[in-house]
Amino acid sequence: MTSPTTRRSLSGIKSTGSPHLGNYLGMIRPAIALQATHDTFYFVADYHALTSERDNVNMRRSTYELAATFLAFGLDPSHGAIFRQSDVPEVTELTWFLSCVVTMGELERGHAYKSKKDTGDAGRAVHGLFAYPVLMAADILIYDSHVVPVGKDQVQHVEMARDMAMRFNHHFGETFVVPEAQVNETVMTIPGIDGRKMSKSYDNGIDIFLPAKKLKQRCMQIVTDSTPLEAPKDPDKDNVVALYKHFATADELADMKEKYRAGGYGYGHAKVALYDALERRLGPARETYEKLMSDLDTLEDILLAGAKKARSVAQEVNGRAREKIGFNRHPVSLG
Ligand code: TRP
Repeated sequence: MTSPTTRRSLSGIKSTGSPHLGNYLGMIRPAIALQATHDTFYFVADYHALTSERDNVNMRRSTYELAATFLAFGLDPSHGAIFRQSDVPEVTELTWFLSCVVTMGELERGHAYKSKKDTGDAGRAVHGLFAYPVLMAADILIYDSHVVPVGKDQVQHVEMARDMAMRFNHHFGETFVVPEAQVNETVMTIPGIDGRKMSKSYDNGIDIFLPAKKLKQRCMQIVTDSTPLEAPKDPDKDNVVALYKHFATADELADMKEKYRAGGYGYGHAKVALYDALERRLGPARETYEKLMSDLDTLEDILLAGAKKARSVAQEVNGRAREKIGFNRHPVSLG
């Protein structure tokens, strides 16, 4: 049981494709770490995925993959809840309420829509992409969330959620908790194998649960410069080290940096060391993940139990908003 004074951590991750190491370091790992001090509500953002996903098999697969990923890294469903966004339909009603306090101008600055607009393609963007930050605000506000652990790219959306909460509270009276984003500064930008930010849209990611052999192949594909093996290298300007530092111990990292500076140590060696460090961390979780993915009925039960818990909070908070707006059913004075 969570005491009413426990602060709640809430986050979601969009279910499009398999999660990569950027998702793991930026959001999954810090979100799970908050279990120690917070009541945790984490969900698979399948309503958000619908802005682009058109295949129901992929929709289901990514949902299960993401839920299994959280569980494999130690998310304890008895501690908080892991659930599917679409199992809490109240969130779409709250989205409408918030749509009536947020302005077009604010949404036009939302980066998902803005980048579409910058390519001259705004007219072809679906409305869901434009309204993406409103749905996300509803996700956050409907659980009385205090902290929202997110990757850097989602900070703007959390700021917008704060603004919507304050605006609604201003118009209708104190209703929502005003949430705060939590970003891990040390993992601001995780490079992909080509050195650009690791992102699904660049296809430069390293998926978390690649089979060991594929994981190694992917590590070997990381782009490095052409400094010859014998020459000293700058560890602070290299993509392999930039990833290694998140998975190696402090001693291992210091050791690798020293070898870079000394020369006689090639990028190939560094890539193998990276693979070893990754495998050490990901290997055991991969086993759990595969077990979970081979028993979807159990996974489904976990998701449904999570939804039940989350939904009871959502109904209460959404009911509070309905009341404040004046959607009461019980007879009240019209003043
Ligand atoms: N937009 C997030 C992503 O792309 C997913 C998300 C949806 C989310 N709703 C949220 C994250 C609420 C934090 C809080 O992954």
